[in-house]
Amino acid sequence: MSLTIAIAKGRLQQPVLDLLASAGIHLDPQALSSRRLTLENDSGDYRFLFVKPADVPIYVEHGIADCGVLGRDIFLESATDVLQPISLEVGRCQIVVAAPSGASSLNGGVVRVATKYPRITAAHFGSKGVAVEVIPLTGSVEIAPVLGLADCIVDLVETGRTLRENGLEIVEVIAESKACLVVNRTSYHFKATIIFQLIQLLKNQTKGGAGC
Ligand code: PRP
Repeated sequence: MSLTIAIAKGRLQQPVLDLLASAGIHLDPQALSSRRLTLENDSGDYRFLFVKPADVPIYVEHGIADCGVLGRDIFLESATDVLQPISLEVGRCQIVVAAPSGASSLNGGVVRVATKYPRITAAHFGSKGVAVEVIPLTGSVEIAPVLGLADCIVDLVETGRTLRENGLEIVEVIAESKACLVVNRTSYHFKATIIFQLIQLLKNQTKGGAGC
């Protein structure tokens, strides 16, 4: 029985492939450097799908992939019905509110917030009772306050360089994020043995915590 795992392309892909390799799950480097979006490992035990981060939980929820590896930020935003047995110690970053350095308070009137994370943003400000207009963008969010589209942003920060170089600073940390493993509910029961093996292999490498 083999396991299909959806991997988020982009910033997490290489650290996750390195983690899998250290856990003994190797992918052919030549195949990896190709444009192929599905690959099997050497033994054929695992099949990998390389998809956009936001699509990982969708493939898993629908059972096309048994498991997925993605950032907690995307998982929180997705609101999909999947299990999250472990977090992995790669891809550490933070989801933050950031505003132009020296900006006055964000508490006056309706705050305009540009973000790739509309759900997280609405939930965060909603829980604080702050009225916001969420302006959904798909990337390069840091320029929105600079150009006057928004008062602040909710975005991911890893090194902080993008914020700094665009004259923004962190106002508040909403959540920590790192890579996490998510699992389809049905697969979790019917492929329990191979899924637990994978979880154990990954835990041995990362001392990953419980849940996402
Ligand atoms: C992410 C995030 C920030 C940047 C943060 O964007 O949205 O823009 O990385 O990284 P840093 O703190 O190390 O500077 P990504 O690179 O995924 O591109 P995008 O803005 O097009 O989504």
